Amino acid sequence: MTRTIFYTATSLDGFIADEPDASLDWLMSRQQDGNGPMNYDAFIADVGAVAMGRTTYEWILEHEKGAWPYAVPAWVFSNHDLREVDGDVRFVSGDVSEHHPAMVEAATGKNVWVVGGGDLAGQLADVGLLDELIVYIAPVFLGAGAPLFPRHQELALTELARNGEFACARYEVRYAADTR
Ligand SMILES: NC(=O)c1ccc[n+]([C@@H]2O[C@H](COP(=O)([O-])OP(=O)(O)OC[C@H]3O[C@@H](n4cnc5c(N)ncnc54)[C@H](OP(=O)(O)O)[C@@H]3O)[C@@H](O)[C@H]2O)c1
Repeated sequence: MTRTIFYTATSLDGFIADEPDASLDWLMSRQQDGNGPMNYDAFIADVGAVAMGRTTYEWILEHEKGAWPYAVPAWVFSNHDLREVDGDVRFVSGDVSEHHPAMVEAATGKNVWVVGGGDLAGQLADVGLLDELIVYIAPVFLGAGAPLFPRHQELALTELARNGEFACARYEVRYAADTR
């Protein structure tokens, strides 16, 4: 069954990008053990669609030098006209619940990965559509930046491990009433 998962790295104080440059140097300077717990290769093998907001999309375009890195269909949320890439990218806006069914269908039984940012993942949780969070917690405080998840959300810890320098945690999203 398809699950919608926010898989991301965060600083210990809950930021997924630096300020003021939205830099990920604090993350890129640290290596993940590719065979370790909750590693990216194992995670991406089960991903059938991705979703992200404009800032994350623009960061990817800049840092991948225009080469689109995902082989699966992508949903990019924005209220602006964005540069197109050579890949299966759908530009959308508005209520995430209107777009989520198409992501699930495109994923053909695999998972939907919410690449970022935290508010987009939060919008999905607001309407009961986010299943899981997997966070790689880097041993650094950033003090400010793009927030990991800017709202109150109850979670249940389901897995805890170490991968290299990172503390890795998997959480099930908890809903007060079962809205799904
Ligand atoms: N640490 C990590 O592993 C990791 C992973 C992913 C991303 N990142 C970084 O984290 C930062 C995240 O940036 P961010 O917090 O600004 O979040 P973001 O989701 O990447 O971008 C926010 C933008 O997405 C658009 N958006 C979101 N929801 C929308 C909706 N429902 N309808 C229409 N547009 C919507 C809006 O764009 P408009 O302005 O066009 O309205 C909004 O300003 C980026 O710098 C990224 O590179 C880090």
